[in-house]
Amino acid sequence: MSAPATQRSTAQISVNSTAHEFDGPPHTNALDFLRGVGLTAAKEGCAEGECGACAIMVARPDADGSTRWTSINSCLLPAAALDGQEAITAEGLAEGESVHPVQEEMAVRGGSQCGYCTPGFICSMAAEYYRPERAADAADHHCGPNGFDIHSLSGNLCRCTGYRPIRDAAYALGQPEPGDRVAARREQPAPASANTDIHRADTATGEPGRYRRPSTIAEALDILAGEPEVLVVAGATDWGVEVNIKGARAKSMLAIDRLPELRTIARTDEYIELGAAQTLSELERELAGSIPLLGKLIPQFASRLIRNAATIGGNLGTGSPIGDTPPALLALDAQLVLTSARGSRVVDLAEYFTGYRQTVRSADELITAVRIPLPLSPMTSFQKIAKRRFDDISSVAIGYAVNVEDQVVTKARIGLGGVAATPLRATATEALLEGSPWTLETVHGAAETLAAEGTPMDDHRASAKYRTAMLRSSLERFFAEQEAGR
Ligand SMILES: Cc1cc2nc3c(=O)[nH]c(=O)nc-3n(C[C@H](O)[C@H](O)[C@H](O)COP(=O)(O)OP(=O)(O)OC[C@H]3O[C@@H](n4cnc5c(N)ncnc54)[C@H](O)[C@@H]3O)c2cc1C
Ligand code: FES
Ligand code: FES
Repeated sequence: MSAPATQRSTAQISVNSTAHEFDGPPHTNALDFLRGVGLTAAKEGCAEGECGACAIMVARPDADGSTRWTSINSCLLPAAALDGQEAITAEGLAEGESVHPVQEEMAVRGGSQCGYCTPGFICSMAAEYYRPERAADAADHHCGPNGFDIHSLSGNLCRCTGYRPIRDAAYALGQPEPGDRVAARREQPAPASANTDIHRADTATGEPGRYRRPSTIAEALDILAGEPEVLVVAGATDWGVEVNIKGARAKSMLAIDRLPELRTIARTDEYIELGAAQTLSELERELAGSIPLLGKLIPQFASRLIRNAATIGGNLGTGSPIGDTPPALLALDAQLVLTSARGSRVVDLAEYFTGYRQTVRSADELITAVRIPLPLSPMTSFQKIAKRRFDDISSVAIGYAVNVEDQVVTKARIGLGGVAATPLRATATEALLEGSPWTLETVHGAAETLAAEGTPMDDHRASAKYRTAMLRSSLERFFAEQEAGR
């Protein structure tokens, strides 16, 4: 077991192989820190994770102990979260006078006009360039001829060039050459998590601020027990938006996203347990389709940049009625492991949400894991209805997990999001389906029951009428999908 990291009151950050120190107020984001030290390639376009102009690469641990260069939105990440970490910005990719292959292809194929978005595209593209599985993915019809997954750029927007030249640049990339120092860095372990405790007053208000990253869950739970008002931060993809757009400030933050105890996937005969600090990208990779319903959901969740930071625990920690994981997890009969210094308890997700952004979790508890019971239902689907196909929040989301034996429904679980103050199970529809023949007639008969589940409302994403209509047609869509897949 490695020795506990020494606690630090300033953050030591390696950017483009140069050491920097951060000792600003804890709500400072990584983008402001980088620009403050003169690294101005990363830009602020939106400050809310939507445009990717601020993208950088960070060295993250991979499942096999090596390093995976991971693109993230620096506008959302607290600078203090980079303590002890290594980052690369677009400035750090060139070697002296030689531009990086990604920069070269973007230049020669006309992938940049005003250039505002370009450093962000370069970082997302470079992270994909170095993705270890890319060579093998050349045969995958979802990827380009060189194995490049174009969805790795789903969080990057460009207002003036148009996307075709950018895609041409991506698909023209070869594999890293021998001697490429960024590729070589992947062979070494990623930096260990630092033990950070930064106290700094807000420069504008003089209010005190504190950012702590403990090394173990025991330390984190002790802090929560003594200060239940502390703000838990994981990937900061929700919290960063609150800070940047709504001016939210926390007197004290507790970073839990690198706690080793929250970053495992455990399998038993009864369940698969997902550590709460696993990011959506890590789950996508490590589950590799072994929970098909999550395999269908994750690619529809935000963008690659967001999925590289957003955790499954954070999605449930918000208590939001429009988070994407609850409808799928409700359909999977998931349970949450809630842990405090007093011990752990296991709560059915169906019992977790108690009101708008309210849950049974008490202030001193962390979500430490999500348990998916086995065996899994064979027929599953995740339907996300949003204004855009990708990188958008759901207006309505529906998760299905259904068992049919001898043409009769033996088990039906339907999770709903966006149609009430909380995510919920469509229990009346489930009861109607169970014991009925799996036919279009049954599905048509249940459509009105499903349409009446929840209490949808009008908002800027969709009207209540539209949400009800989406529920009404959803079961028929699920039936058609399953019949087509037979
Ligand atoms: C551009 C953009 C697009 C997005 N698209 C989607 C989308 O398509 N679908 C979707 O569902 N969401 C989306 N989101 C929202 C967000 O990315 C998710 O909710 C994400 O899962 C939050 O995880 P996080 O680790 O970043 O949480 P954080 O921002 O770190 O924390 C969120 C909340 O959860 C609490 N929390 C975090 N971890 C824990 C824990 N282990 N135990 C207890 N409480 C905890 C925190 O205290 C905080 O209140 C989007 C956000 C952005 C900015
Ligand atoms: S500035 Fe737009 S995503 Fe960060
Ligand atoms: S080149 Fe101008 S926004 Fe992309």
